Formats: sequence, structure tokens, C-alpha cells
Amino acid sequence: MRLLVCGGAGFIGSNFVRTRVREHGDEVTVLDKLTYAGRRENLQDVAEDAGFRFVHGAIEHAESVAEAMEGVEAVVNFAAETHVDRSIAEPDAFVRTNAMGTYVLLEGAQQRGLRFVQISTDEVYGSIEQGTFTESSALRPSSPYSATKAGADLLVQSYVHTFGLPAAICRGSNNYGPYQYPEKLIPLMVLNALHGDPLPVYGDGMQVRNWLHVSDFASAIGRVLEAGVAGEVYNVGGPDECPNLEIVRRIIELAGADESLLEYVRDRPGHDRRYSLSSEKVRGLGWEPRVRLHEGLDRTFSWYRENAWWWEPIRSGEYREYYQRQYGRSLAP
Ligand code: NAD
Ligand code: TYD
Repeated sequence: MRLLVCGGAGFIGSNFVRTRVREHGDEVTVLDKLTYAGRRENLQDVAEDAGFRFVHGAIEHAESVAEAMEGVEAVVNFAAETHVDRSIAEPDAFVRTNAMGTYVLLEGAQQRGLRFVQISTDEVYGSIEQGTFTESSALRPSSPYSATKAGADLLVQSYVHTFGLPAAICRGSNNYGPYQYPEKLIPLMVLNALHGDPLPVYGDGMQVRNWLHVSDFASAIGRVLEAGVAGEVYNVGGPDECPNLEIVRRIIELAGADESLLEYVRDRPGHDRRYSLSSEKVRGLGWEPRVRLHEGLDRTFSWYRENAWWWEPIRSGEYREYYQRQYGRSLAP
């Protein structure tokens, strides 16, 4: 396939691109703005592969989109502002990229008759204390992040309904794995534990997430791209649910660190208590998750321990300032 992957320099996008280039022989163009979360080094091992092309630009910029869409058959849109805490502090970029950017991509795809897969999140459904969300559950986003993602999903559905755009939506649960920017729970706790920094647990730490290894999300998106039905939504939930505290305790154990590093801090405003997705529908396309949380967490811990070349520039750059603003304390040097 000739694919345009928007946001392909980020965490999930780069893992997806690697799979498509290496295992499926796809020709991939990446369109990415290279925000703090987008990094050329995430793609350095495929950058020289035949058929790989990189366009530096924003999805809300029609000219960049036109350049990137040249010669492609299908678009997969990962590009987004993705961190809930940043969306609470500064929602502006979330509206521009997640809502406006998706609109500009949809226009481009519509004009050129391209297939479209929108990458979305379980967070559009809001929190669920018991049971599990299906694709027909109501959208009740809680944060500016999830509200702008829900807005994008509705725009995609409007383009299917009104213009017949062949588009599908994949809603994934919390991903983890290599190349995840350390603002997110698992890599943040791993790097802090390795450096002897306190591990900041929000509230009581009993919030539950439905963890999905990034390789499993990538394979599900591949199935939707190949066999998904236009106009449909596919939930992609991980095989395990786990409270944050349990994950943090396991990371302390893996790092050989002391429990005293654990620090309960002020809760996130509007914090969703639990996410849970039913993946029956995407399983119907022949997908199943392969990585259980206990194994994936150990592998992810090892990846961060062994790839300091990747995170050292991050920890000494913008991330230090973000951390100071968000947590009111400095990271260890
Ligand atoms: P990420 O923050 O690691 O990467 C986002 C990428 O988008 C970066 O490369 C960034 O440079 C790029 N980008 C941001 N704004 C852009 C713009 N205006 N134009 C072009 N590129 C831009 O995010 P991620 O965790 O890889 O998430 C990818 C997608 O998957 C997002 O749409 C997110 O909502 C969705 N998702 C994430 C998770 C998760 O747990 N991380 C779970 C489900 C769904
Ligand atoms: P996060 O990785 O930000 O993903 P999301 O908010 O999209 O689920 O957070 C995962 C969970 O971990 C969430 O319940 C918030 C919690 N959390 C902490 O307790 N401390 C932290 O420093 C961070 C970043 C998250």
C-alpha cells in the first residue's frame, strides 16, 4: 500500500510505520509537525528504506497536506496533541491540531478519494466504573484532550455520512511500549525510578487503565486498514486492566528502587476513574492482542533501561521545564 501516516514521528505512529515498512513492504509518507513529542530519531531505522518519505508540516496546513497526499492511496491519522495534563494547562493547541487539523485532512482525502483511518481513543467515552464500553456507547469526554478527539471522530463520521468518504475510526485504550514520551505514566515512572526521582501518583492511585501494548495497537490498525468497513468504529482494548499503583509498584521492583520513592500528589482535575473497552468487533477482523501487561511492562522497562541514547536528550530538554511546571519540582540531573 502507499500510505500517508500523519503524526508518524510520535510514539504509536512510529511503531506503526516500522511495522508497515518492515513487515508489509508498504510505501510510507510521514507528515509530522515535529512538536516536542515528534522525533526524527523515532524513525531513524526506517528513514533510509525504499519508499519512505518524510514531510515536515502541520496537518492543519492545507499546503503541507497537499504535498504529503501526493501519490498515496490511504491516510492514517495519528497526529494529535495527546497529553491530558497539557490539555488542562493549555488547551489551545488541542483544538487546533485535533479538531481543525483533522478537518483539513478530511477535506484533502475527500478531494482525492483516499481511504482514511482516524486514530482515536477510549477517552472519548469518558469514565466507566463498571462494565465495558462498546462502539455504540455514548461519547462523554471529560478533558479538553478527549473532547477534541471526540470532535474529530464526529467530523470523520460526518464526512462518511455526507460525502461518502471511505473512513473508519480506531479507538485504542492506553498504549505503552518503546518510544513513548516520558510525560505518560509508564515511561515517566520508569525514568524517575532509574534516576531516584520521586514517583508522583495522582490521588489515591486506584484509577484503572486498560493497557494495550503498542505492537498490538499497530496490528489492529493494520487489520482495520485492510479489512475494516467504511463508516465503522472499532474499539481496540488491551488484554489487561490494572490500577496505576500496581504498575508503579512493579516498576519500583524492576528498578530495584525503594518504596519510599512513591509520592501521592494532588489529583488531576476531572480525572477519569476507569477505562475499559470491549474489542469484540475488531476481533471479528481476525485481530487479537499478543502481549499481556506483566510481560509487556517488563519488556518496556528493559527498553528504557537500555536506550538512554533515546531519552537522554528528552530529559535534558523541554521535558525538564514541563516537569517543573507540572509537578512543581525539578528532575534529578
Ligand atoms: P504522541 O504525542 O507520541 O505523538 C503525536 C505525534 O503527532 C507527534 O509526532 C507530533 O509531532 C505529531 N503532531 C502533533 N501535532 C501535529 C500537527 N499539528 N501536525 C502534524 N503532526 C502533529 O502521541 P501518541 O501517543 O503516539 O498518539 C498517537 C495517536 O493515538 C493520537 O491521535 C492519540 O490521540 C491516539 N491514542 C493514543 C493513545 C495512547 O495511549 N498514547 C491511546 C489511544 C489513542
Ligand atoms: P496518562 O499516561 O497521562 O494517560 P491517560 O491520562 O491518557 O490515561 O495517565 C495514566 C494514568 O496515570 C492516569 O490515571 C493518570 C495517572 N498518572 C499519575 O498518577 N501520575 C503521573 O505523573 C501521570 C503522568 C499519570
